[in-house]
Amino acid sequence: MATPSPASVPLAEREVIVKIEGLQKYFGKLHVLKGVDLEVRKGEVIVLIGPSGSGKSTFLRCLNFLEDPTTGDISIGGVHAMCGGHGKGFKQAVHEIRMKCGMVFQEFNLFPHKDATENVIEAPVLVKGEKKEDAVKKAHELLTKVGLAERVDYFPSQLSGGQKQRVAIARALAMDPLLMLFDEPTSALDPELIGEVLKVMKELADGGMTMIVVSHEMGFARDVADRVVYMDEGYFIEQGPPDEVFFNPKDPRTRQFLRHILPEVDPRHAAELGITEMTDEYEAAGDDASPIAQPGTDLPKTPTGPGPGGEMPLDASDRPGEPDDS
Ligand SMILES: Nc1ncnc2c1ncn2[C@@H]1O[C@H](COP(=O)(O)OP(=O)(O)OP(=O)(O)O)[C@@H](O)[C@H]1O
Ligand SMILES: [Mg+2]
Repeated sequence: MATPSPASVPLAEREVIVKIEGLQKYFGKLHVLKGVDLEVRKGEVIVLIGPSGSGKSTFLRCLNFLEDPTTGDISIGGVHAMCGGHGKGFKQAVHEIRMKCGMVFQEFNLFPHKDATENVIEAPVLVKGEKKEDAVKKAHELLTKVGLAERVDYFPSQLSGGQKQRVAIARALAMDPLLMLFDEPTSALDPELIGEVLKVMKELADGGMTMIVVSHEMGFARDVADRVVYMDEGYFIEQGPPDEVFFNPKDPRTRQFLRHILPEVDPRHAAELGITEMTDEYEAAGDDASPIAQPGTDLPKTPTGPGPGGEMPLDASDRPGEPDDS
């Protein structure tokens, strides 16, 4: 009997493939993650939002051990690591978890001296030992999937930001990840290039990929996310279906963020939720009055268009920042 596609099985009945418990991270004395728990089911799309410095990137980077979490438990795809370990078993678990995660960064992190195909085949050939010709064939399929069939031999300097980010997504997919992590994948892009990247991400989600996305693209979150998580000061404050979190936030900190901080620091994304500005009337009406458009309001749909990015860490020494996008 054929295995049912993830979408045909109700979310609540799907297997939990990511389980995070009590995750904490200190940078020296700075306590950045203060005990974070999260379960993600197969094919689920989580969008993580929150103010700058709240720990969103640190959380993603701890999940695939680009940062060493201080304490807590991480299980991804049946592999469990108790954080803070140093032994052989721990290192093996970390390696296996990293192989299960594809990550896409804001700044693409492509190798500038390699063309699109070479960027995509690097990890499969070097880390997984795939035969080069097989890896190239798969790279061309993936580059076609992200709309770059005509650009397989282009170097990063010959590609637009949106095209670079799509190469980065193809590169992450080349390792057949169980889970894709996106850290603000569109925030470095010119507005006209954002849609092409979100379109590819939506197609991935529609295809059943499990994704955790840090992004304030609210139209995308409403369209694609199963769950929005609001993070503040190292805690997951509130989570739920997008419309619940966006239009009926329970926690005062979530309301504060959506009503005050977002419109001020990020008016374009606030406008996607129908929040244009705070009014004195609203302030006077108290915290329960919402300036936020209610569900059903016409919101911009996920933009569509040409062109994404991803990076599969090669090994523990391959920390981001080495390759460059320029
Ligand atoms: N490698 C590091 N060493 C020391 N402190 C760090 C390091 N990385 C992050 N931090 C600190 O951890 C806190 C959380 O940073 P993080 O980058 O996770 O926030 P964020 O929510 O992703 O913010 P933004 O929305 O601006 O990207 C910040 O105070 C930051 O300065
Ligand atoms: Mg960040």
